[in-house]
Amino acid sequence: MKYKAYLVEELDGSYSGSIKELEIDNIESENVIIKVEYSSLNYKDALAASGVKGVVSKYPFVPGIDVAGEILQSSSDKFKVGDKVIATGYKLGMSVFGGFGEVVQIPQDWVIPLPKNLSLLNSMSLGTAGLTAGACVYKILENELSPNNPIIVSGATGGVGSIAVNLLSNLGYEVHALTGKPNESMMLKKMGASKIIDRSEFLAEPVKALDKAIYSGGIDTVGGDVLSKILSLITSHGSVSCCGNVGGFQFTSSVFPFILRGVSLIGIDSAESDINFKKKIWELFSDEWSLNLGDFSKVISIIDIDEEIAKILEGKQVGRVVIKHGD
Ligand SMILES: NC(=O)c1ccc[n+]([C@@H]2O[C@H](COP(=O)([O-])OP(=O)(O)OC[C@H]3O[C@@H](n4cnc5c(N)ncnc54)[C@H](OP(=O)(O)O)[C@@H]3O)[C@@H](O)[C@H]2O)c1
Repeated sequence: MKYKAYLVEELDGSYSGSIKELEIDNIESENVIIKVEYSSLNYKDALAASGVKGVVSKYPFVPGIDVAGEILQSSSDKFKVGDKVIATGYKLGMSVFGGFGEVVQIPQDWVIPLPKNLSLLNSMSLGTAGLTAGACVYKILENELSPNNPIIVSGATGGVGSIAVNLLSNLGYEVHALTGKPNESMMLKKMGASKIIDRSEFLAEPVKALDKAIYSGGIDTVGGDVLSKILSLITSHGSVSCCGNVGGFQFTSSVFPFILRGVSLIGIDSAESDINFKKKIWELFSDEWSLNLGDFSKVISIIDIDEEIAKILEGKQVGRVVIKHGD
């Protein structure tokens, strides 16, 4: 079967993508072939599309760590032709051709039936960014977050950050949005942030071993000094979920937040999470965590992806980019 995909190729050390016609392999045992109706753009996809080392195993390659669509062929006893499904992470878009193509072939164990109250489009407005934001929130709530202090979210206008802001605010928490784009404060307020903090002001003073206890929790998508500072500002027995490194992969801290305030630093790896954990987060989004992200996501055709990839790599993307295949 032939299908169209955004194929990234390497030529003399530089990487570029274009729409190509490809042929899907015959279906393997316990696999499904999905007709992808929607995918989405995540930071990792942009790294994959630009040839950043350590993301994709080999090129030519079709990125796309998220897919939502319908089963076209099945050699699985769990899914039948016509089922609406979603899949995110694992090796999808990393060593297995991903959602920037109209069709994917993946193992049944990566696939989740579309939860009942989500459309394929809604599911990709969330995508891996939503799943990650959900996992970050779930983990800090599990640690019994105090409702008496605000929660800080970094990279707040980005995919993970904006969904975390919206979700925490919907759950009744006071959310402070840390951003490098204070000009997007209207958007962040609409998402539910009660205060917008300019990242350059936040980082103006050097990070202290222990600072004023302001936040009962944090969700950090940035890493580097931002994570260092957030840790120093957490109240007694608060928690921080750490999921990203757009601002740097190294950070320094002291033991004081941990031994004097009992702060927990929680690592999030949504891609490789157990499928049952992913299902739990998707079910929450389909039910009590239901979000309306319509105003914060734009739907594009795959032919327009280059511009959006450039924006996300420059840290200029706001909200979510959903990719619609077909006409
Ligand atoms: N661990 C996991 O399971 C997992 C899953 C998904 C994503 N991630 C990671 O989480 C991070 C965010 O992903 P995303 O898809 O939400 O990306 P995104 O949409 O590009 O959002 C990242 C946001 O971070 C801020 N930012 C960008 N460059 C920055 C810089 N140099 N210094 C400080 N802040 C910067 C920007 O927000 P402001 O301008 O508002 O500050 C940007 O919008 C990435 O590192 C990604 O790899 C991890």
